[in-house]
Amino acid sequence: MVNEDGDGTARRKALALLDWLAAMGADEAVGATPADRRKPPAPVPALAEGPLAPAPAPIGTAAAPLAPSQGATDARELASRVARLDDLRAALEAFEGCALKHTATNLVFARGRPGAPVMFIGEAPGAEEDRAGLPFVGASGRLLDVMLSWIGLDDDSAYITNILFWRPPGNRSPTDAESAACLPFVRRHIALARPRLLVTLGRPAMNAVLGIGSGINKARGRWVEYGEGLDTPIPAMPTFHPAYLLRNPAQKRQSWIDFLSLRERLDALD
Ligand code: URA
Repeated sequence: MVNEDGDGTARRKALALLDWLAAMGADEAVGATPADRRKPPAPVPALAEGPLAPAPAPIGTAAAPLAPSQGATDARELASRVARLDDLRAALEAFEGCALKHTATNLVFARGRPGAPVMFIGEAPGAEEDRAGLPFVGASGRLLDVMLSWIGLDDDSAYITNILFWRPPGNRSPTDAESAACLPFVRRHIALARPRLLVTLGRPAMNAVLGIGSGINKARGRWVEYGEGLDTPIPAMPTFHPAYLLRNPAQKRQSWIDFLSLRERLDALD
């Protein structure tokens, strides 16, 4: 509640503070009661020695995020051990090596049909995806669904995920450590979903999954091979991210060309 001061100064200050908080990434209420973070924390009572003292948590399951390089190492080991998509999801639920998990509401794993002929990989969940625990359900997702329908695809004929399984707070760019901790799971995700074709959406997914360092304008629409963890490499194509198309609708023409190329590849599958 803002006290009225006649000239509206308090109201303006409160709105400016809200703007600042949103710009800093604090764009969601996470608790019903306000907490004063400037207050010093209450002292923690010393832990008793002996049988009641908690055992040290095993590596990879501690509540605090692990050091970045440890996160990626643990991710590689954990991901290599799982043999089914359900187990991969469970491994991610238990994984503590990516700091994003601690600010996200939900794990955002995948939507669509595992085993579908084409797998799409985007960048990171946004606020709506974080709430729903499903990728591409916000504005970008609605456009992606329209793009899929251009070539007769839907949730039964496509499988959709991201290179990050948790929303970065305020949609900030992920750190290298956060991306590195998710990548082994993404690679295992592809290997277990076994798509015949792969499409990356936007530059970050293209860089991370396909290792293409050039700009998306140059690389989009060109088919390359993706073979990490697969017995036989599969064709993969980078294209624009739907969020970019929402900001630059004129580029939908290029996406249309890319999606037609995808349709041709799908039709040519045996
Ligand atoms: N953008 C993405 O890259 N992924 C989502 O899930 C939503 C928006």
